[in-house]
Amino acid sequence: MADSSEKKRPQGELSIRVLAMPADTNPSGHIFGGWVLGQMDIAGSIHASGQAGGRVATIAVDSMVFHKPIHVGDEVSCYTRITRIGRTSMSVNVETWVRRARLGDPIHVTEGRFTYVALDAQGEPAEILNKTVPGTN
Ligand SMILES: CC(C)(COP(=O)(O)OP(=O)(O)OC[C@H]1O[C@@H](n2cnc3c(N)ncnc32)[C@H](O)[C@@H]1OP(=O)(O)O)[C@@H](O)C(=O)NCCC(=O)NCCS
Repeated sequence: MADSSEKKRPQGELSIRVLAMPADTNPSGHIFGGWVLGQMDIAGSIHASGQAGGRVATIAVDSMVFHKPIHVGDEVSCYTRITRIGRTSMSVNVETWVRRARLGDPIHVTEGRFTYVALDAQGEPAEILNKTVPGTN
């Protein structure tokens, strides 16, 4: 059955690119899901922080789907796209794509949706003033 893992190209902007290392494996030798989730959270927070113009905190991991495994030596790229901006929070879709051993066409391996809250200097929720998402107008 066709599913969303069969996307042909990444959607959103490249927020981080890293190499999957042996230290990040699980007992079966693939890359540990928690490591992938962490990279995606970092990527989403970089994008959200740019939108908010300051600090953000992750308040929710709304969804996470692992379509395919990541192998040691894969080049891992996280693409991010803001899908909703509320008063103080925003939703960010994060797609992860890999190139096996840093070669060939990108393969869509995971996707997730994260919610971030903009923070003021005291660590309290702050209104997001810039509600314009580039590329949606
Ligand atoms: C982020 C934090 C300061 C927000 O404070 P809070 O008092 O819970 O915030 P509020 O109830 O005012 O809600 C703030 C926003 O988050 C949204 N929100 C609250 N709970 C949510 C949830 N479970 N899922 C999604 N959004 C949620 C609210 O709808 C609101 O959005 P809006 O202003 O766009 O309408 C606080 O929850 C916190 O410190 N959490 C821990 C963050 C953390 O340690 N993250 C991991 C490391 S970064």
